[in-house]
Amino acid sequence: MIKHKLIKVNEEQKEFHLTNKSISYVFKVLNNSKQLEHLYYGKKINHSESFDYLIEREGRPANNLYEGSETSSFEHIKQEFPSFGTTDFRDPAFQIKYPKGDHISHFEYQDYEIYDGKPTIEDLPSTYTETDDEATTLCVRLKDQYSELYLILYYTIYRDLPVITRRSVFKNEDEESYFLDKAMSMSLDLPEKDFDLLHLNGAWARENHISRTPLSIGKKSISSARGATGPVHNPFIALARPETTEKSEEVYGFSLVYSGNFEAQVEVNTYNVSRVMMGINPFNFSWKLEPGEIFNTPEVVMVYSNNGLNQMSQTYHDLYRNRLVRGTWRDKDRPVLINNWEATYFEFDEDKILEIARESSELGVDLFVLDDGWFGTRDTDNGSLGNWTVDKRKLPNGLRKVSEEIHNMGMLFGLWFEPEMVSKDTDLYKNHKDWIINVPGKNVSHGRNQYILDFSNKEVVDNLYQQMDKILTHVKIDYIKWDMNRYISEAYSVNLESDRQGELYHRYILGVYSLFERLQTKYPEILFESCAGGGGRFDPGMLYYSPQIWTSDDTDAVERLKIQYGTSLVYPISSIGSHVSTVPNHQVGRNTPINTRGDVATFGTFGYELDITKLNKEEKNKVVKQIKMFKKHQKLIRTGTFYRLKSPFESNEVGWMIVSPNKSEALIGFYQVLARPNAPYERLKLQGLDPNKRYKIFPGSEYRYGSDLQNVGLLFSQNETTRKDEYWSQNNKSDFNSRLIYIKDFGDNFSD
Ligand code: DGJ
Repeated sequence: MIKHKLIKVNEEQKEFHLTNKSISYVFKVLNNSKQLEHLYYGKKINHSESFDYLIEREGRPANNLYEGSETSSFEHIKQEFPSFGTTDFRDPAFQIKYPKGDHISHFEYQDYEIYDGKPTIEDLPSTYTETDDEATTLCVRLKDQYSELYLILYYTIYRDLPVITRRSVFKNEDEESYFLDKAMSMSLDLPEKDFDLLHLNGAWARENHISRTPLSIGKKSISSARGATGPVHNPFIALARPETTEKSEEVYGFSLVYSGNFEAQVEVNTYNVSRVMMGINPFNFSWKLEPGEIFNTPEVVMVYSNNGLNQMSQTYHDLYRNRLVRGTWRDKDRPVLINNWEATYFEFDEDKILEIARESSELGVDLFVLDDGWFGTRDTDNGSLGNWTVDKRKLPNGLRKVSEEIHNMGMLFGLWFEPEMVSKDTDLYKNHKDWIINVPGKNVSHGRNQYILDFSNKEVVDNLYQQMDKILTHVKIDYIKWDMNRYISEAYSVNLESDRQGELYHRYILGVYSLFERLQTKYPEILFESCAGGGGRFDPGMLYYSPQIWTSDDTDAVERLKIQYGTSLVYPISSIGSHVSTVPNHQVGRNTPINTRGDVATFGTFGYELDITKLNKEEKNKVVKQIKMFKKHQKLIRTGTFYRLKSPFESNEVGWMIVSPNKSEALIGFYQVLARPNAPYERLKLQGLDPNKRYKIFPGSEYRYGSDLQNVGLLFSQNETTRKDEYWSQNNKSDFNSRLIYIKDFGDNFSD
């Protein structure tokens, strides 16, 4: 056996065992056919000199036998990266079109390499390591028997996390060109179907709601064909046991580090084998791979948990906030911001902007963000996108002056852009019709009166870079909100030959990534927040470029309970853009107390999006208190372990909490949607504490042991009570109520 740090190889049988403290992933090379057979993925198992005992393929009907294969047809073999046309009648992980027009490939195992650390992926975002001992990478090379095409499968296992990342690479060393009509990042055959499929679904203003349905024989898939990941399905699925809860039992998570069209599919066959596949959506995809070229697929991050959904989420949070998010802002407290969008929409001038900034700086806000409407002559959403020059009617002294004034107030200054879009009234549109995504001579749809620039064309990206760079070199900008408000409809680029039109969506997103990369290389200090009409591109790809993402255009506190709860399934709290806005709420008309709005927004990046000058004295005092409170706990919120305690999808009461890594403190949020008369007591059972630590509870003067807080819980009663250990009754007489509780260990701990 050859032993690398996290990968063991039984050389003779060519069995690969990726393993760390908690998980194992095993596959082997089949002797005759040189295909890769999947053997196991899940909780750690001991290494064995032979993993033959994991094989399950005997005794199946042997019709459709592939020439030279093992005992059975590939339909009965669990595979690592199945191909089409070789007696496996399920969906393949890839499809290559050969010059004759056929799609028959046969890739055979060639060799493997193992190295410390994790390689980056050219032009694509990915998780990374900071030191080589954090992870080990296995790279398996297969060669097509009908061409000089190579397939390279990458597997990285992290040392301290139950994480394996996977991706595939296609390399053309032939003299002919080939078309990749499907190129998924990974495929996994699990030997059972006793799972529920979880995913995050939604729409504009109600993103990331959790959906959970049992698997059954047949296919289930989620996808996007809109040019961005979109709000309808997030690029994430999980397979949880029917009995899996937040706290216990198994779940397998799959998250794609990508921001364009994607597909995640689970196909259960008649033998109850569940094939999971994830990657670029094969719909409308075709990539011409010329001699000498390589095609990289985006990576899938697979997380295994046998302690429920919370543990799966905590693993994603850990990995994503520390080894996906990059740059200056990764480990820094983020500024509390105020954004003028819901305060003014397009109607503002310099005085109004400075008035909001001044008031908010006095209340403790760190960053003023000037949203849409500062450029061209943009008084409505009808025009000016693509003309990134300041509107002197609104800001007669220019952006520089606004930025200077705001910096003089002791605040940072942020600016909104929507770089991928163009409006009809701009020179950019008039002079460069060929830069717009559409089929010449055919109808082109608009969305929000705007058209999509062809980011697959480098000239277009250069133009936008120059326009943005001009502003950034002249004005001190500390933060950029990068918005994107419509999706690709008539997908066509005049810049691509007809046999390359299937490349447009992927090339588009590569263009978007390249603009981020160029701007961030030149301006590494700028904090980016990405956005797509709210959470329409809330994905790990974007997280690589922007440590925070605007989660939803719905800022209502009650709606946000569901949106933020769902988002937390994969994404760290430090990435969840969350603001306190005005009432009645602009999206749903609901009146919620300012405390509740603040208590919900606290579990995110925290900021304001309202006309702060219109608040009364009492409300302003509350804002001051909220900001102080957030800043006090900011590090805990950014670095702590998040637990979902009570789901808004299942009950009127909602609870969540964040515990510091050393368990010495925790912040708990409890929310009640509707007030109920004579209601049962609510006991919120905490998690993640040290059972033997004695915690002091704020507000109040009670002390409780961790064991007690976890097993008995915090009491919330809607009835009048004089009990000191009750955290609700004083302010429970309204709908949409909430409470933040902070607990801290004071060292007076229990020992037997
Ligand atoms: C959609 C975003 O989600 C909003 O926050 C705001 O920036 C508007 N676009 C501006 O047009």
